[in-house]
Formats: sequence, structure tokens, C-alpha cells
Amino acid sequence: MLTLVHASDVHFGAPHDPRAAEAFLRAASRVAADAVVVSGDFTQRAKVHEYRAAAAFLKLLPPVPRVVTPGNHDVPLYRVWERLTAPFRNYREFIADELDSVTRIPGCTLVSLNTAAPYSAIVNGSLSRRQLEFASDAFRASPESDLRVVVAHHQLAPPPDYHGGQAMPHARRHLADLERMEVDVVLGGHLHRAYIGNSLDVIAGEDRGHPVVIVQSGTTSSSRGRARERLRCSFNVVRVDAETIEVVHHHYDRGDDDFHPTGVHVFPRRPRRALPAEAATRMLDSLQGLE
Ligand SMILES: [Fe+2]
Ligand SMILES: [Fe+2]
Repeated sequence: MLTLVHASDVHFGAPHDPRAAEAFLRAASRVAADAVVVSGDFTQRAKVHEYRAAAAFLKLLPPVPRVVTPGNHDVPLYRVWERLTAPFRNYREFIADELDSVTRIPGCTLVSLNTAAPYSAIVNGSLSRRQLEFASDAFRASPESDLRVVVAHHQLAPPPDYHGGQAMPHARRHLADLERMEVDVVLGGHLHRAYIGNSLDVIAGEDRGHPVVIVQSGTTSSSRGRARERLRCSFNVVRVDAETIEVVHHHYDRGDDDFHPTGVHVFPRRPRRALPAEAATRMLDSLQGLE
């Protein structure tokens, strides 16, 4: 059994909710996690004091590998000169030096891809051809039996009710590429609401290959829950064995100051297929088409 804790959008700064953050730390310590993922928006305005608090928070997480990625709030929005010249300086100093990274734990390869695009699509995010090649190379070097996970801040599937956010630009094309890489799970945030997506539901076509389960976390510790999660905080626990991928949403109850399971989604774990040469060529062709 492999277990991942997935939090997001902790937003140190004005909207941060310290009670929810402390409750999350207690809840995370009760899960025998193999890794903890925090999928971006560590701060509200990318300020040094916000990053210091976020770094202190990360140190209090269970002592297992931590997998992180920047969010759009982790680059300065209003300090335009800094955004243009050194957008990730504070993130790199306090959270992680690498913006795209690979974490390998027994039974699982996690690839973090930075979707915060400070020069262009600062709100909707973006992925480049180079980043998808980086992911493809990392998964190609993984054991066949590994769960393949991508961590990206911006959503690759819209919320089920389409309220409040479209998917990242070129999301369908990116998902098709991730299907061909036989990625099992994408962990993301940004919209401040927990939901599940599936590449089979958001890309047209028959029997394209490997479905990608898209797991979104709401904001784990801020007052900025959106849509049906207004003022609500959440995180996910993902448990995987040889046959199933189980995702459990947990939401914060301010009354008893604790997180509780609120929804369970179970998916069959698909066998990994050897990629035929023709499909590998198609994937490379698709990557060539990216800007
Ligand atoms: Fe956020
Ligand atoms: Fe965000």
C-alpha cells in the first residue's frame, strides 16, 4: 500500500487560517504517509515573511519526502520588476530550488511541473513542451510497476459544475500526452475546491490509452474556499495498491477543529502497457507541436 497526503493552497499571508493549518498538521500526522504533496500557492503575495512562515510549516509535516510545486501566488503579482527579473527567487530560497523535479519513493515516481507562468498566463498557468519531455524522460526511467504521479498547481480538468474556472490552456493536449506517458494520477489545486476529474471524461475519443485520474485539493489552510467550498478547507489522502487508486477528500470542521473524510473515489488501477513504437512516435509528434 502506498499512501500520499495531498494538500494545496496553504496561502501564508492575509487569508491564511492558522487553526486550519494546525488541524491539518495533526490530521497529516495520523496518516502513515509515504510522501506529502503540497501543490502550490504557499503564499498570498510571495513576500519573504510569508515564505518564512510557509517554510516553518513544511518543517512540521511528517518526516517523509515532500513534493512541492509553485503556484501563481508564489510569484510577485504587483512587484512587476521582480516578477520580470526574478519571479521565483523567494520560492527557490525558502521552498525548493528546483521548479520541475522528480521524486522517487518505493512504488511511485512523482514529477512536479511548474505551471506558474509569471511572464504570460499568470492566472491560468501553462506547461511547455520541454516540461512534458522532462516528465516523459522521468517516467521512462521508472520501474514498470511504479505509480506515475504528476504534481501541477493549475487544473487540467474543469470542476464538474464548471463554476469558477476553466482548465489550463491546452489542457486536453497535455492530458493526451500524459495518457500516452501512462500517468496514473495528477495532483493539483488553484481553484480552492476539491474535486475529481478523469481524462476519459474531458477528452473526446475512443480507447485512447491510459486514463489519468485528476485529483484536486481545495485550499488546505485559508479563508478563500471557492464556489461550493466557500470558507471551507480541504486536503486529500490517496491510497494505492496493486489494483485500486482510492482518493479520500477531507474537509475541515471549524466546530470541532478537525478534518474529516467527506468523499471517497475508487478507480481501478490500469495495467501498464508497453508503448508500441508507433504510439511513441505519435507522442513525440504531439510534443513537437507544443510551443
Ligand atoms: Fe490558491
Ligand atoms: Fe493558484
